[in-house]
Amino acid sequence: MSNELIRFSVAMPEDLLAQFDELVERRGMARNRSEAVRDLVREALVDQECADPDALVVGTLTISFDHHSHDLQDKLDHIQHEHFDRIVSKLHVHLDAHNCLEVVVMRGPARLIQDISNAILGTKGVKNGKLVLTTATEA
Ligand code: NI
Repeated sequence: MSNELIRFSVAMPEDLLAQFDELVERRGMARNRSEAVRDLVREALVDQECADPDALVVGTLTISFDHHSHDLQDKLDHIQHEHFDRIVSKLHVHLDAHNCLEVVVMRGPARLIQDISNAILGTKGVKNGKLVLTTATEA
């Protein structure tokens, strides 16, 4: 396999194509249909790879919480210390007088990264959060 660009034609209903063009425009990330298709294929491949519980992934978990919540920061730090070998880094932002935002970067098997993430998200006082998984390999 090489990175040489291969042309192929795609047939799709007019309505779907119109929606695709709108999607491309809304995302503003692709300059043309070919780039948009490549982006979507890469996205699907990464999603598929991350769905394998044994796949080695990189996860970024973003959470927000009130730092006045009882013992919450200690509990969050405890979970992360328990998995110090999987936690790559953590960013802590003091959003205002009460609220904090943390981004935890993890690396390891997808199943374990999900488990650590669920433990953090399930800690009482965490208001909301989202885990995004990706792979370190190039698609
Ligand atoms: Ni803070």
